Amino acid sequence: MILRNTIAGQLVVLLLIYGRHTLLSSAKTVTSEQMSLALPEPRAYLPDAQNLDFVYHDHEELTRFLRATSARYPNLTALYSIGKSIQGRDLWVMVVSSSPYEHMVGKPDVKYVGNIHGNEPVGREMLLHLIQYFVSSYNTDQYVKWLLDNTRIHILPTMNPDGYAVSKEGTCDGGQGRYNARGFDLNRNFPDYFKQNNKRGQPETDAVKDWISKIQFVLSGSLHGGALVASYPYDNTPNSRLLKGICRSSALCAMFQTYSAAPSLTPDDDVFKHLSLVYARNHAKMSRGVACKSATPAFENGITNGAAWYPLTGGMQDFNYVWYGCMEITLEISCCKFPPAYELKKYWEDNQLSLIKFLAEAHRGVQGFVFDPAGMPIERASIKIKGRDVGFQTTKYGEFWRILLPGYYKAEVFAEGYAPREVEFVIVEQHPTLLNVTLQASKYNVGSARKPKKERKQRHLLHDELQTPNE
Ligand SMILES: *[C@@H]1O[C@H](CO)[C@@H](O)[C@H](O)[C@H]1NC(C)=O
Ligand SMILES: *[C@@H]1O[C@H](CO)[C@@H](O)[C@H](O)[C@H]1NC(C)=O
Ligand SMILES: [Zn+2]
Repeated sequence: MILRNTIAGQLVVLLLIYGRHTLLSSAKTVTSEQMSLALPEPRAYLPDAQNLDFVYHDHEELTRFLRATSARYPNLTALYSIGKSIQGRDLWVMVVSSSPYEHMVGKPDVKYVGNIHGNEPVGREMLLHLIQYFVSSYNTDQYVKWLLDNTRIHILPTMNPDGYAVSKEGTCDGGQGRYNARGFDLNRNFPDYFKQNNKRGQPETDAVKDWISKIQFVLSGSLHGGALVASYPYDNTPNSRLLKGICRSSALCAMFQTYSAAPSLTPDDDVFKHLSLVYARNHAKMSRGVACKSATPAFENGITNGAAWYPLTGGMQDFNYVWYGCMEITLEISCCKFPPAYELKKYWEDNQLSLIKFLAEAHRGVQGFVFDPAGMPIERASIKIKGRDVGFQTTKYGEFWRILLPGYYKAEVFAEGYAPREVEFVIVEQHPTLLNVTLQASKYNVGSARKPKKERKQRHLLHDELQTPNE
């Protein structure tokens, strides 16, 4: 049952637990400081060649830029390394936020990953300019200030610095530099939901896996080149496994897969389409869906489901979504993989609004906390939006976020030792819904409750065991 009262001009949605009379959860609207819709559009950034020119930066230059920026803007940036590439290059992450060193409780962390394919470096340069844009606009642009005051933005400009080092400017196609120094494609190197991935885990992939296991990212974009499209999960499909059993040689399988490329849709397909459209429509040309070459596909509205384009195993976006509930999409931002440097300014102009507006989508949907009866946060409570079988978990502060489009929803909340709960809430267009949920201790002795079989399973929320009540 949902009651709506208008109090002080605000819509307050109260949620009642089924079968009880106690009010244990509540949702309310947010204050205007958290609203982006009322703000003027972000202003165009006027690049200053003194700080950052439109040229490609090698690893030393990239490192120097990041160090100089973090020294110059200590209140807005923090620089950290999540590990090293095979050849020992740091995988730098720059946080840009008004709280660069500490997570802001209740506010989302988001990320961009560039250059996972070493020979696709437009994203790498775009991310350096995005950093420069943010720090130089914070005091003068209300939209940027709002975004940085309410979001921690983690930017990994290059996930594959070794591949970049052997790539050649002006090379539009081909595989040289695509792989890491051991010849692995990092976007085929993640655990896969549909298929066993037997590829040996690489240091760059392991660093990213470790990173996303420590920070609950709500939203993410991975930047590529070689096409102009926003591609969303799933990248893999259950059919590829099926075909493998049917066909005899892998060449034949590959042929079958090419002709059978069918969409592989997530239960959050509406959200993924929306996120992809936000990027494509704010881009200067992407949503026109013009093919890069006559031999390549044209994408309607500039978006596609990953598997419908071509299925792949071990991709990063499926991993982010299935394992950690992070909504990641793949942004293909240049037809030419490694275009000449003089085109970079144009790429920036095409992408700047998309890059900003996409991140702001982390503030759409539902967010809140799960508490125990004493008001203490419950970590690792599992939450599933009914009808959407990919779940997510609370942080150590009991926080959760989920991007959802306007509508009525039910969430199922579970935690070991507590009675499961179902809560209803409403999502509106204008601002996120705040939802706090209190779980009551389970009536039965759960001290001996069975442990999940594997750590992986616990994270891997598609499993039915999480639906089983504690008792
Ligand atoms: C939810 O809990 C947080 C953290 O205690 C609190 O700041 C916020 O006001 C609460 N929101 C609602 C809607 O009760
Ligand atoms: C950073 O913030 C502190 C405290 O608000 C302030 O005193 C200092 O001037 C700021 N530094 C810069 C470089 O903006
Ligand atoms: Zn790529």
